[in-house]
Amino acid sequence: MTSSAARVTVPQLEVMKREGRKIVVATAYDFPTAQIADEAGVDVILVGDSLAVVVQGHETTLPVTVEQMLYHTEMVRRATQRALVVGDLPFGSYQQGPAQAIDVSVRFLKETGCDAVKLESGPRQMETIEALVGAGIPVMAHVGLKPQSIRSLGAYRVQRSHNVVDDAKAAEQAGAFSIVLECVSSEIAREATSQLAIPTIGIGAGPHCDGQVLVFHDFVGLTAGRTPKFVKKFADVRSLIRDATAAYCDEVRRGAYPDADYSYE
Ligand code: KIV
Repeated sequence: MTSSAARVTVPQLEVMKREGRKIVVATAYDFPTAQIADEAGVDVILVGDSLAVVVQGHETTLPVTVEQMLYHTEMVRRATQRALVVGDLPFGSYQQGPAQAIDVSVRFLKETGCDAVKLESGPRQMETIEALVGAGIPVMAHVGLKPQSIRSLGAYRVQRSHNVVDDAKAAEQAGAFSIVLECVSSEIAREATSQLAIPTIGIGAGPHCDGQVLVFHDFVGLTAGRTPKFVKKFADVRSLIRDATAAYCDEVRRGAYPDADYSYE
């Protein structure tokens, strides 16, 4: 059963921060996982460009296209009733400036029904955020470690510079309604969180943020191999699914499935 509660809104997130209520954010990329996250009470579902890595099997987030992000965001929005749904603008879809960012974000809101967009933000994106917000498009900004800049960064590293706090404050000034802080020291996250009126959502940013986001496949234990230090596995779904699949193979091969219980007269 899905919940029939009203959908979380952008202004409610700022109220949650003021009232000290933690905001729960999870990624989802398809109908069934979005439905599960929504039923479980996640406040915000991010259709992250991490789907390039998690779902498509690429090494970085760079290859995922606008059309692919729209395809996934639409199915996630359709699966949810309560969670606010944020579509992630993929690499190359907004870096040219406000006009390009408005064109692509309008497509996200119109074609997928999502409630807001996210973009990786630095000083060059301020004009873009202002233009989007001016056009009525809520923006979640993403600072700290920015995976779309991996070719310039060279490696995924924890960010400890105070520039992160400045980037977050600038994005708030430009009109962003919340800020993702990715892979920053707990101290930097604490500072940013205390200086902003809008909520900070941490991933690998310690306990002081107003909310947390994790990749769905990571926290349910579906991801193969090593995950970063900040990922807590709340289940081992990968083993469960592998065991169920092995049992299915076994029963088919032994002729044990389907028996009369699973056959028509
Ligand atoms: O793409 C994504 O999933 C993200 C989160 C890690 C914040 O940007």
